[in-house]
Order: sequence, then C-alpha cells, then structure tokens
Amino acid sequence: MHSYSLVAPAKINLYLEIIGDRPDGFHELVMILQSIELADRIDIKPSDTQDIYIYCTHPQVPTDESNLAYRAAKLMCDTFPDLYANYGGVNIKIKKNIPVAAGLAGGSSNAAAVLVGINLMWELGLTQPELQDLAAKLGSDIPFCISGGTAIATGRGEKLDALKDLDNMWLILAKYDNTSVSTPWAYKTYRQKYGQSYISDRAGIKSRTAELHSSPIVSSIAQKNIEEIGKLLSNDLEKVVLPEYPQVAELKSAFAKQNVLGTMMSGSGPTVFALCESESKAIAVKQQVRNQITDPQLNFWVTRLSSNGIQIDDSTS
Ligand code: C5P
Repeated sequence: MHSYSLVAPAKINLYLEIIGDRPDGFHELVMILQSIELADRIDIKPSDTQDIYIYCTHPQVPTDESNLAYRAAKLMCDTFPDLYANYGGVNIKIKKNIPVAAGLAGGSSNAAAVLVGINLMWELGLTQPELQDLAAKLGSDIPFCISGGTAIATGRGEKLDALKDLDNMWLILAKYDNTSVSTPWAYKTYRQKYGQSYISDRAGIKSRTAELHSSPIVSSIAQKNIEEIGKLLSNDLEKVVLPEYPQVAELKSAFAKQNVLGTMMSGSGPTVFALCESESKAIAVKQQVRNQITDPQLNFWVTRLSSNGIQIDDSTS
C-alpha cells in the first residue's frame, strides 16, 4: 500500500449570509467560499495495528477523537469495515501552517485531506461527489475543502456550485494568537439577536438562495472585477463577533485605512483578511498595520487566492 502526502488549503468567506434556521438545529446559509494558498501538509500512512494515530506539530491541536481528522479516518474505517479489517489502521501526521480556531477551516481541510488520502491509499475509487457526501456527515465546510476554488455554498454550507476561479488576488491574514471564537457561540448569539428576522418558510429560503446566484458579488466574480469584489465582501457573523472582540474590530479598521480592495472577518473569526491586487501591496499593508499595532500576539500571513482543493503534495517526491 502506498503512503500519501497531501496539501490541505485554508479557506476564507467572501460572503456569509445567515438566512434561517434548519430542522437539524443548524442554520440555512448563503456563502461564497474561497480557497487560499496557506495550507497544512498531511501525511497518511498505513499502520501496523488497527489504531488511528494522529501526530500534529501544533501543541493546541488535539490528537484524540475530538480531532476532525481522526473522525474522518474513523468514518472511513466504519464505512468500509472489510478494508479496515484487511489493511489495518492509519497513521496521520499534520504539519500545521493554518492558524488554529481561526475561521479558516483548518480542521475541516485536514479532515478533507484524510478522506481523500484514505480513498487513494485503499484504492477505493470514490468519486469527488461521493467523498463530499461522506464529508458532509463530519462538518459543513468539509465538502468545499475537498474541491476548493471559488464556490457558492448553501444549505448548511455543504451544497456547492463552483464559480469561475479567482486566483488574481493577494491577501493578508491577521490573527491574535491569544484570541479564538467558538463557532457554536457565534451562531447561537446571532440567532438570539437576529432570529426574529429569519426567513421561516421553505419557499422563501429557496428564493433567497436562488437570488445569490444573480447577485452583484457573483457577477463581479464572473467578471474578475477585483475592485467590485472587494467592496461587496460581507459576513453576517461580524455583527456578533466584532462587538464582543473590540481588538478584532480595530484590526479591521486598521486594514480599511490602508486603501485595500476590501477587508472582512473570515467565517466566525477571529481572523481578519484584507484583499490586495499584488504581493508587494499586501506586504506593504502588512508592514503598515504591524507598525500601528505592535502587540506581539498579533500574527500576519501574506498569501494568495487559490483554485485548488486537496492536492497530492508532489513537492516532497
Ligand atoms: O458543521 P460545523 O461543525 O463546521 O459547525 C460548527 C458549528 O457551527 C455547529 O455546531 C453550529 O453551532 C454552527 N453552524 C450552524 N449552521 C451552519 C454551520 C454551522 O449553526 N450551517
């Protein structure tokens, strides 16, 4: 059996609108998700035992069954018990580059890589849609992490419509090391504050979902109009996270003053990103904001948009 090394990219949300409640307790969302080049590396190897073993370079990442990558491997073992019995368990090594608990889908992307890696290692031959159906059982963002690129995501976030690739923009990500936001808290607080304005009927949800497909931001993406995309960024969760985390709000204001294309919190935060037309502009903006906010807990990453989901890492072969 072969071992595999995979690249697992992070994602940002260019658009996140909460439109209603779902019978399963989750929210109905309309989002635009975008892969970025900042990525973890995942090594998948067969084990000599029946165990699933996780090793991670980052001390904050759990290595037990609470890790989504562990749960992805367990799902494959449970779904294909004969192969698991024949081939044994899996060793998973995660080299973390994506900040943890940051609103960048790092854990979801690791889980996506495990599904793709085990599919290859066990020569299962599952198609991408089949892997995405399995992925949806583990988490709302994991199906997107498998295919990556630029996509409209609806339902819980698992229903995807690919858009034209947007790879002509750079971005700076910024996150305080000592700040993390609980995603369930952010959605629960949003429901408490804004639940009375949710769309409650299926027809209304369907029509709002359809509207996004012809919305200005989707047209700007089709035209690769980066100035317009920057102006149309939106994230409903900012309404609950920014008042609770003033540092994150200040960070966003600092980026906004730098004449960037646009700036927004990603997912449930607390990472803030700023879009730029070039790498040199992104580096200059990063330096300006670093000079204004000297807190050593604040970290920056300069990276660019990507059209890739999970890929085999051929840089190591
Ligand atoms: O699916 P995932 O594990 O990423 O979701 C994390 C949490 O975010 C959920 O437990 C839920 O509280 C919230 N969520 C939601 N509606 C969604 C996606 C996530 O309420 N569509």
